[in-house]
Amino acid sequence: MKGNSTVTLDIRGLSKRFGGIVVADGLNLQIGKGEIVGLIGPNGAGKTSLFNLVTGFVPADAGEISIDGQRIDGLPPHQRARIGVARTWQNARIFQSLSVFDNLLIGARDYPGESVFNNAFRRRELAEQREKSMAQAEIVLARVRLDHKADAFASDLSFGQQKLLAIGRALMNNGPCLLLDEPMAGVAGHIYETIGDVIRSEAAAGTAVCLVEHNVGFVRELCHRGVFMFTGKIMADGPVDELLKDQRLTELYFGAKADKRAAAELEVTA
Ligand SMILES: Nc1ncnc2c1ncn2[C@@H]1O[C@H](COP(=O)(O)OP(=O)(O)O)[C@@H](O)[C@H]1O
Ligand SMILES: [Mg+2]
Repeated sequence: MKGNSTVTLDIRGLSKRFGGIVVADGLNLQIGKGEIVGLIGPNGAGKTSLFNLVTGFVPADAGEISIDGQRIDGLPPHQRARIGVARTWQNARIFQSLSVFDNLLIGARDYPGESVFNNAFRRRELAEQREKSMAQAEIVLARVRLDHKADAFASDLSFGQQKLLAIGRALMNNGPCLLLDEPMAGVAGHIYETIGDVIRSEAAAGTAVCLVEHNVGFVRELCHRGVFMFTGKIMADGPVDELLKDQRLTELYFGAKADKRAAAELEVTA
């Protein structure tokens, strides 16, 4: 991260293992306000797991995670979402039988869910929240350029439009930190351009963005910084072009010499 920028997402000493598989091995990572960081690395490196750990879907074994100086490790996922951590999933996970608009409403930061208590005692508050969420959904619809599809079933969208909808749902959070898991996978043409524009304008508005992506061209165009992960470790952290030029990282990525010795040589102590 640039020395003088404000840290939004601050990860320190984050560790997690599943049996013998280490997915986070004392990770340190800072992402600044308005920064777009590309998380790259081969399949199984622990990229999705990192998002699961930050969002709280998977509990960490050790480490600290803060958003704008506020500790979030230890909080359940919905509280982290309320503080402003939003994510998309590697597979879009949208609700096919709901409309585009309703899919967005579900992503609202304060989405209340259904409960007898809510219905009985918080009617007015919930109505206000719903108004706010609907206004936000209108803004997001325009931002992801799906306004003409608001009432369509999600199942009627093209694959690329579904990816946009998934990003839109994360934007409903309107929080300081956005995690995108392979937002471009399988997408081409004008939707590719739109996704790039959406991410750029989110960052320009001050959101800290971390995205996992195998499309190297996209990472190079979009990201201010690259982070290379392998076996739960950050092997390199710096300008994307430098990472892409690094022969040793390329070998790890494509598995040519992906042995433990090569990994040890590469490790950077953050
Ligand atoms: N909930 C889980 N239980 C057991 N193993 C898991 C779980 N989640 C991920 N893993 C394993 O952790 C490793 C890293 O997975 P993942 O974070 O999905 O990698 P990436 O996104 O970089 O491809 C893989 O070997 C995967 O099988
Ligand atoms: Mg993954």
